[in-house]
Amino acid sequence: MKVLLGITGCIAAYKAPELLRLLQKRGCEIHVVMTENAQNFVTPATLAALSRNHVYTAMFPDPDSPSGLDVAIDHIRLAHSTDLLLVAPATANTLAKFANGIADDFLSTLYLATKVPVVVAPAMNADMWRHPAVQANVRQLASLGVNIVEPEEGYLAEGIIGKGRLAALETIVERVFQVAAPAQDFLNDTVLVTAGPTCEDIDPVRFLTNRSSGKMGYQLAQAARLRGARTLLISGPTRLDPPAGVEFIAVRSTEQMREKVLQRFPEASVVIKAAAVADFKPKTTAGQKIKKDGKPMVLQLVPNPDILKEVGAKKQGRILVGFAAETESVLLNGQRKLKEKFLDLLVANDVSQAGAGFDSDTNIVTILTRDGQQFRLDKRPKAEVAHEILNQILAFRKRHA
Ligand code: PMT
Repeated sequence: MKVLLGITGCIAAYKAPELLRLLQKRGCEIHVVMTENAQNFVTPATLAALSRNHVYTAMFPDPDSPSGLDVAIDHIRLAHSTDLLLVAPATANTLAKFANGIADDFLSTLYLATKVPVVVAPAMNADMWRHPAVQANVRQLASLGVNIVEPEEGYLAEGIIGKGRLAALETIVERVFQVAAPAQDFLNDTVLVTAGPTCEDIDPVRFLTNRSSGKMGYQLAQAARLRGARTLLISGPTRLDPPAGVEFIAVRSTEQMREKVLQRFPEASVVIKAAAVADFKPKTTAGQKIKKDGKPMVLQLVPNPDILKEVGAKKQGRILVGFAAETESVLLNGQRKLKEKFLDLLVANDVSQAGAGFDSDTNIVTILTRDGQQFRLDKRPKAEVAHEILNQILAFRKRHA
């Protein structure tokens, strides 16, 4: 989901970088707009570094700068290319401008131009918040369909306790997801997703693994959860936090992943295997660290069980989706795996391309279906790829209802 984060000028702006990180952890792509006053509290450089995107600060930037002209018309492009506008913290001044259609800077102009849902999280002094003019603006915004995350009672910057403190960042993030929640079209499903690599131990300190970060599988689990599915995520070791609301099952080796998948897949109506499973493991695992003796060492590998094929053989009415990480003859190999593993859909992943496959935030895939359809997705964030895979599952199910 693409979120446009508007930051306005009050002390709570120092919390904006943390809010940005929380949204990113939930899979959001963030673009930031800052008012002039916001820049007194937090710098555009911080937000540019964290968001990895240009930060918009002025309506009419320096025309001599290389991107000057582009930025001048960007409020319209940005307004139309995002999924949600979140303004946090929102000052009394910004609330007043939004409520009354005043467009005198980049953020307020963008607000008027956008048609996407808007969430504002006000923060200010308690007396200001209580002021009838501010309360009238808040009511006006609510009547225009703007979602208000009310400030909280608490210790304010001026040293008194009162209502005006920016709502807890988790509360703001939850509201963003509630407001932008996609259709609950997996409400009656249990979706089982596998993600990440598997690790095969050679001895107590060494193991065989691969470059999977888990990002693709975690985005799939999050997307399924957001769309209403009860979601099980079986994952090899990664550095990622499991998405909220997902039942998380950690595994390490292929054998452990197999055991958990076979145990849990009877509960699932949809199984998606994004994990990069080790095809081989050492024939034996040494009990002690193997010592070097100057001679070449031969490591004998034996094949691991093919979990997906095993599930495919007993899938019954379940929809089974596999991935294929390939570096050559991608579609041909994908078609072969689709048949061999009794799959309904196969996501063919050319992992040799820049911006695709292992550890990248984007992916480039072609979705192949058992009934001969083929959908190519050009480079896009893994979160979007995940939603498109879910869309194709629904379309497949509809064709075979
Ligand atoms: O995790 P990321 O860094 O985001 O990277 C994403 C990804 C590249 C790992 C992902 O997009 C991907 O392509 N996953 C599948 C990787 C893989 O193992 O491909 P494969 O062609 O070797 O396996 C085909 C399918 O069989 C996969 O669904 C795999 O989970 C499954 N399999 C493979 C071997 C095995 N022993 N058991 C299996 O179940």
